[in-house]
Amino acid sequence: MTMIKEGLLQLYYMLGRLKTFIFESFYSLLWYVRYMHAFHLHLAKEFDLINIKPQSLFSWHMGCNYFVGEETKSGRQIFVKTYKWQELSKREAKALEIINAYNSQNISLFPVVVAYDSTASFPFVAFEFIRGQTLKKTLNEKVMLETEYKRELLKQMILILDLLHKAKIVHRDVRLDNLLLTDSDNGISPKMVLIDFAFAIGVQSQSEHLPELQKVLNDKKILKMLGDGLNPKPFLWDDAYSFCKIAKMIDPHCDFTFPDEWRELYSKVGKMVYRHKLLY
Ligand SMILES: Nc1ncnc2c1ncn2[C@@H]1O[C@H](COP(=O)(O)OP(=O)(O)OP(=O)(O)O)[C@@H](O)[C@H]1O
Ligand SMILES: [Mg+2]
Repeated sequence: MTMIKEGLLQLYYMLGRLKTFIFESFYSLLWYVRYMHAFHLHLAKEFDLINIKPQSLFSWHMGCNYFVGEETKSGRQIFVKTYKWQELSKREAKALEIINAYNSQNISLFPVVVAYDSTASFPFVAFEFIRGQTLKKTLNEKVMLETEYKRELLKQMILILDLLHKAKIVHRDVRLDNLLLTDSDNGISPKMVLIDFAFAIGVQSQSEHLPELQKVLNDKKILKMLGDGLNPKPFLWDDAYSFCKIAKMIDPHCDFTFPDEWRELYSKVGKMVYRHKLLY
């Protein structure tokens, strides 16, 4: 009886995922047919961004579409992300602008915004293209990482947190998919970049500049998912807590292997949190 129940439940979830996949593929196809040409022209005419080509088509979801292209004047490669809502593109660009103002040494721990538009019918942000892969992919490859490579990852997490704390911004979605590791020449010193600031939020002195987004204010579903379970509990976010969990995924014994780095990382837990008050 329990087996039948479990089987039916699995089937229910599978059908749910299939429905989402069909719906999102249809929506993406519709977007492509209706807007791709106009998007192309708009980026070239208004922002000097050319050779825009769709990327990762299967990851497109509900207005979040990805492209690669080029900036005419510098020739640098760019990554373009569109958003379902204008306020998400504005939030991502604004949060990164604030953080980069604190990043006096210009360390590449955060994406560089090349252009953005939150007013048009195609809200987007164009970033400098980051060559590398997500931490999720690196860990899934199940290749033994060098001890010094792991230590370097922990050090970069500390630097990222230092800047977030200085900027008074809680990212809220620190997870393996949102950490890119850029290719390194020697294979020993990876560079970690925290991406995806669409749902970042300001706290303390920054709370007025980056308040909760209107659209998500009462959307319990988005808020519940945000953080991917690496946050202390639903509706409460602490980036340091998430980074500690990620450090343990990189090395379950990281507190013994890298006591100094772990201590520093762990000391930041609880220092800057954001709690969604409306749901309490
Ligand atoms: N600057 C960049 N250069 C190269 N690739 C990038 C860049 N920014 C993001 N990506 C790629 O696009 C993927 C999605 O980016 P991001 O997480 O910002 O978008 P998202 O729509 O919020 O995705 P999700 O909803 O899955 O979190 C990343 O995992 C990464 O592979
Ligand atoms: Mg993401």
